[in-house]
Amino acid sequence: MENNSGLNQHVFKPLQGRRIIFGVSGGIAAYKAAEYCRNLAKLGAQVRVILTENGTKFVSPLTFSTLTGQQALTSIFHNDLTHPIPHIELAKWAELLVILPATANIIGKTACGIADDLLTTLFLAFKGKKLLFPSMNPVMFENPAVQENISKLRERGVTVAEPEEGTVACGDTGKGRLPDFESVLFLIRKGLASHDLKGLNVLVTSGPTREPIDPVRFISNRSSGKMGLALATVASLRGARAHLISGPTCLRLPSHLPVVRVETAKEMAEHVLLEAKAMDVVIMAAAVADYTPVSYVDTKIKKTGQKLVLELQRTQDILFELGKAKRPGQILVGFCAETENLIENAFKKLQKKNLDLIVANDVTTPGAGFDWDTNKVFIIDSEENVEELPLLHKEEVAERIFDRIRQLSLKT
Ligand code: CTP
Repeated sequence: MENNSGLNQHVFKPLQGRRIIFGVSGGIAAYKAAEYCRNLAKLGAQVRVILTENGTKFVSPLTFSTLTGQQALTSIFHNDLTHPIPHIELAKWAELLVILPATANIIGKTACGIADDLLTTLFLAFKGKKLLFPSMNPVMFENPAVQENISKLRERGVTVAEPEEGTVACGDTGKGRLPDFESVLFLIRKGLASHDLKGLNVLVTSGPTREPIDPVRFISNRSSGKMGLALATVASLRGARAHLISGPTCLRLPSHLPVVRVETAKEMAEHVLLEAKAMDVVIMAAAVADYTPVSYVDTKIKKTGQKLVLELQRTQDILFELGKAKRPGQILVGFCAETENLIENAFKKLQKKNLDLIVANDVTTPGAGFDWDTNKVFIIDSEENVEELPLLHKEEVAERIFDRIRQLSLKT
């Protein structure tokens, strides 16, 4: 999209000010840990790195100190008398302890309560959330001793991420690879988030629909799916069971979100109406086509010298159907994109479709609506209270929408 590069650079730092201890043990994936640390720092986190002795064989502490702007630590014993007991001091400072990569050795030591270096000692001294990313040869990972240690840690509330399948550094294939940064970031954010939506089943729809005309043509719209993805991501980070039903988008949909992909308004209606029954919250962020061709031509339509008239018919209004079938306590949220009389039109839609909230945006506002990373919306409730939000990143908008949903869910 043209002209939006400046606004799309709206700085979004989801880890701003968050305090993370990042332990690096001695596996080849330590080289990736350096880049991941840098990315976390760029997203606003304060990252303190602790390397085990074996970790230092793969990447120098200086690399981590330079990337994070904080001295990477390697030993419990040092000469700095201003910080005489680093494991206790760091344990009190941090909000989250991450070990990446976590070797079979560090998994074994932490599961057994061994504390023979700074990282393992800190592991025992730290009361907060712990997150381990195992990375090793697949045969080692499947070894019953390693699996038993992982189970032990999980039983004690430690999050141990599943490694990815693929080819590992030694050339073997199987489960043992470090997940990509997006997946790691998701678990780190989840570890830091308040889980105030825990227990809620949330269904979000996103993206456009495509209404086929012939085998090569369709009618669609400009929706990118970014707002719906942001909503499902935030719901999941805050502890809800998030389900996403997405129309066709170019976005990379993360593997940690259950996604049903649909194409047409009819397919979207079938899936949503089926799934919605079991949901506490349904958010229709999808830009569902209001009209679809009356008939599909199964061979490519050839041009002629004449005008071409395409006859369209109405699709089912999914949100209207959901509003009719709404259970007591169920929360329905709609979106509406307008170019004039924004609040008035949005409130009429809220009433007509029996919604609890409607999120309205004027698509003529720069930086708002289709395809932007940002949005500028008004949240309107059934008592006609209007909350105007500033221009925000779509995930920040999603946070504000879920704040309102949470208030409503507490009332029911
Ligand atoms: N929606 C739906 N099913 C449709 C069309 C829209 O569920 N067939 C949902 C959208 O997901 C969105 C809301 O309804 O949450 C938008 O309402 P709608 O009245 O369709 O808005 P517009 O299409 O903008 O309406 P109009 O063309 O009348 O301005």
